[in-house]
Amino acid sequence: MSKAYALVPAAGSGSRLGAALPKQYLMVAGRPLLHHALSTLARHPRIEQVFVVLAQGDDQFRRYDWRRLGARVEPLYCGGETRAASVFNGLLAARDSIATADWVLVHDAARPCLGSEELDRLFGELEEDDTGGLLAVPVADTLKRGNREARVAATEPRDNLWLAQTPQMFRYRVLLEALRKADPAAATDEASAIEGLGLKPRLVLGDTRNIKVTFPEDLALAELILANREKAAKKTVSGSSPRRRGSRK
Ligand code: CTP
Ligand code: MG
Repeated sequence: MSKAYALVPAAGSGSRLGAALPKQYLMVAGRPLLHHALSTLARHPRIEQVFVVLAQGDDQFRRYDWRRLGARVEPLYCGGETRAASVFNGLLAARDSIATADWVLVHDAARPCLGSEELDRLFGELEEDDTGGLLAVPVADTLKRGNREARVAATEPRDNLWLAQTPQMFRYRVLLEALRKADPAAATDEASAIEGLGLKPRLVLGDTRNIKVTFPEDLALAELILANREKAAKKTVSGSSPRRRGSRK
């Protein structure tokens, strides 16, 4: 079986959020946003190592304690002008660790609510796939195309339309080649670069809670989702402890 690695682009400035710090370092549910984005990846048994691509002048990463994520997290100070350039530079910087046929899972630092179930599903559906693919959710709302005056020009059919999320999982060599050929400004995700090679990434059903924090109001939503998950986890632990105690009698 091929090995799998995660690569997390975290070299953006968070301009749409407009905070004093890049959004990956804002505190959400008691930890930096980036910590949450890394934790599901760093805990998954299939993932060997998690590379984090930071801006070259990043002076924030070293201020936090990342040790509770284990020894599998490795920062790379090689971010580029665009997300695609950051991922490309990260792939090059990690080339001594990753074999050409190994899987690389690229995940946004700005998505703190990834669940382990989605990650399991990604591996389950793509492990034997020739191309790889991405988490995505079917579009639920009605789609309107607006004109310049913000009036409805048309209602667009939403059949077969999906919203792309991350992680996006492709073979190291194919992803590197795809990004080398792609226009970095136009390739806003890895899948579009892969599509540029004429390949068809597989859509794997994600979860709408795997949001990307982009605007200030998204922070409160992320906080709610994370708090809810923690509550559910605690319930499972306390619910199962009497049984465990009982079985030891
Ligand atoms: N990213 C990156 N290098 C860049 C730009 C973005 O590594 N040059 C990363 C971001 O840190 C983020 C992910 O790509 O984890 C998704 O990008 P986005 O949500 O657009 O983040 P920002 O570019 O930081 O935000 P904005 O576009 O509002 O400035
Ligand atoms: Mg951006």
